[in-house]
Amino acid sequence: LSTAFRYLLVSYQKQNVDIFSFYINSTVTSRYATTVITSRVANILNESQEIQFEVKIPKNAFISKFRMVIEGKTYDGVVKEKEAAQQQYNQAVSRGQSAGLVKSVGRTLEDFKTSVTVAAFSKVTFELTYEELLKRRLGKYELLINAQPMQPVADFKMDLHIQEKPGISFLEVKGDLSTGDLANAIKTTRADKDAWVTFYPTRDQQTKCKSCGENGLNGDLLIAYDVERRHSKGEVMVSNGYFVHYFAPKNVPRIPKNVVFITTRLALLRILSDLDEDDHFGLITFDNEVSLWKRELLKATETNLENAKSFVKEIRDRGATDINAAVLAGVDMISRHPREGTASILILLTDGDPTTGETNIEKIMANVKEAIGTKFPLYCLGFGYDVNFDFLTKMSLENGGVARRIYEDLDADLQLQGFYDEVAVPLLTDIQLKYPGGTNLTKTSFSLYFNGSEIVVSGQITDNSVESFTTEVIKGSNVTFQDTIMTKDPSDVPPENEDFMQRLWAYLTVKQLLERQVLLKGQEKEDEKKEALKLSLKYQFVTPLTSMVVTKPQEEEVEVAEKPEEEGREHIDDGTSNCGILKLLWYVRIFSSLM
Ligand SMILES: *[C@@H]1O[C@H](CO)[C@@H](O)[C@H](O)[C@H]1NC(C)=O
Ligand SMILES: *[C@@H]1O[C@H](CO)[C@@H](O)[C@H](O)[C@H]1NC(C)=O
Ligand SMILES: *[C@@H]1O[C@H](CO)[C@@H](O)[C@H](O)[C@H]1NC(C)=O
Ligand SMILES: *[C@@H]1O[C@H](CO)[C@@H](O)[C@H](O)[C@H]1NC(C)=O
Ligand SMILES: *[C@@H]1O[C@H](CO)[C@@H](O)[C@H](O)[C@H]1NC(C)=O
Repeated sequence: LSTAFRYLLVSYQKQNVDIFSFYINSTVTSRYATTVITSRVANILNESQEIQFEVKIPKNAFISKFRMVIEGKTYDGVVKEKEAAQQQYNQAVSRGQSAGLVKSVGRTLEDFKTSVTVAAFSKVTFELTYEELLKRRLGKYELLINAQPMQPVADFKMDLHIQEKPGISFLEVKGDLSTGDLANAIKTTRADKDAWVTFYPTRDQQTKCKSCGENGLNGDLLIAYDVERRHSKGEVMVSNGYFVHYFAPKNVPRIPKNVVFITTRLALLRILSDLDEDDHFGLITFDNEVSLWKRELLKATETNLENAKSFVKEIRDRGATDINAAVLAGVDMISRHPREGTASILILLTDGDPTTGETNIEKIMANVKEAIGTKFPLYCLGFGYDVNFDFLTKMSLENGGVARRIYEDLDADLQLQGFYDEVAVPLLTDIQLKYPGGTNLTKTSFSLYFNGSEIVVSGQITDNSVESFTTEVIKGSNVTFQDTIMTKDPSDVPPENEDFMQRLWAYLTVKQLLERQVLLKGQEKEDEKKEALKLSLKYQFVTPLTSMVVTKPQEEEVEVAEKPEEEGREHIDDGTSNCGILKLLWYVRIFSSLM
């Protein structure tokens, strides 16, 4: 621990600071969430001391603003290119003024931490803003808010407002802050298109929840909701020259799937129980040898599933990992089974790196890409921190799928089940979305659409004065859904957050640029990176390419806040997924203090 940090722990224990108010305000407009945390703290000592501000924010979010107000003076954080901020940091290190690096990131949240020296009996206000596009998973959006002010707060308020033009179909408040006595502090108000959730626990209540203690609140509030979907063609919103199209048809029959699980070991038993009778499946296990349970894909009949389960129970891990041979065997198995009108999926589950057979990662990726040839997606699930997740990420992105980390906790099988549930019911394949009159579009082609997820496309409208705007969703060679909307519809967006759609577009564009450039090389990669950097700077997003530099009142004291880095030994290259399925690990966060 750095000296400053140790000192802080001491001063918090002695309660030499008083957090007299702590507000969390979150507004969700059409899935785009903007959250502001405001903490007001007084130094109740008769001498100056360092006061800390620490909060946890969702990994998927970008910080977009940080501000401190001390004795009437405002100090705003400035988002800069990472290298430039790092240079400032390095200079401070070489002058021997570094206060060390704090890194931390959890499964769903990451830390933001800063501190400032405050004079005797003075006050400081910390204000942090972060933004994220809520992703639909398993039929709902989830807004996760963490509260851990470090002490009971006299004036604690959480105000959440959700506004969804198509109407809110259900809303549920969960999380440990909604349990026990604290449940009485939550009020939910619903209207057709709006929902408000307030959480105003008294000082007394703040110490009496299950996860709370002497140090006050410590836990999450989770708002889960979904919107009405009256039109299968989706919902388009237009504002200030930008549009967003949400597409999640529900009255579509499921497509039977062919799925091959390639695994080193594991709790596949529950997944097997979830297959439908018209699904076909295969199992391949591998270590130094690849063994096929059956040479062919089999129908998911009860007998076949029982036999497969017995087989899975016998799986023993012998230590070696021939990923190359195993994946190629899986591709071969699916390719030998072309079935009209079905969706094929290959799922690789591994807890290790390639150690036998072909071990060169570049060669494995090339082999797999050539074998799959865009015919179906490859999903990679990496268990624990012992996998090269960067490699799994690239390999799945390159083959139209996504990678997900499964944490080695007690609920590993639930995580696996959760992932599988998301890809269990394919509804559409080969989806192309067209927007005549739209430009600078985010991703418009998707190999699969799964029940419970949502396809989101955003862009700019070429001619801002046009009266109407057309969207077309094409499945294969057929136009399946079409819509034309009037761009002058005044009821679209409340005037107070007119620019939210532009920010939504920027958020999605940056996420996708970061994801794509993982797969690129040379000039193309540089160009995409440059574009992502330009937008991150313009919209002041703290992304893996930028850092926020906070200048403090003390002479030349500077702090740099960055996106934290997931633990593990992978070499992180930036990238994320927008398939509605997951967050990838490039979420990089480093936090460092300089003096
Ligand atoms: C938070 O929300 C409440 C109620 O919606 C509002 O009165 C208050 O001004 C907001 N505070 C901030 C800091 O935005
Ligand atoms: C602060 O108060 C303590 C007693 O409470 C006193 O001993 C000390 O001298 C004071 N320090 C300053 C800087 O006034
Ligand atoms: C899709 O999921 C919803 C629940 O989220 C369910 O009611 C519906 O039947 C599912 N559709 C298919 C085709 O399985
Ligand atoms: C599209 O983006 C580029 C670069 O971000 C910008 O120069 C161009 O003006 C944008 N197009 C439109 C129609 O705004
Ligand atoms: C849609 O595709 C089917 C074959 O997939 C074809 O028979 C049909 O004519 C197409 N419809 C249109 C409107 O193009």
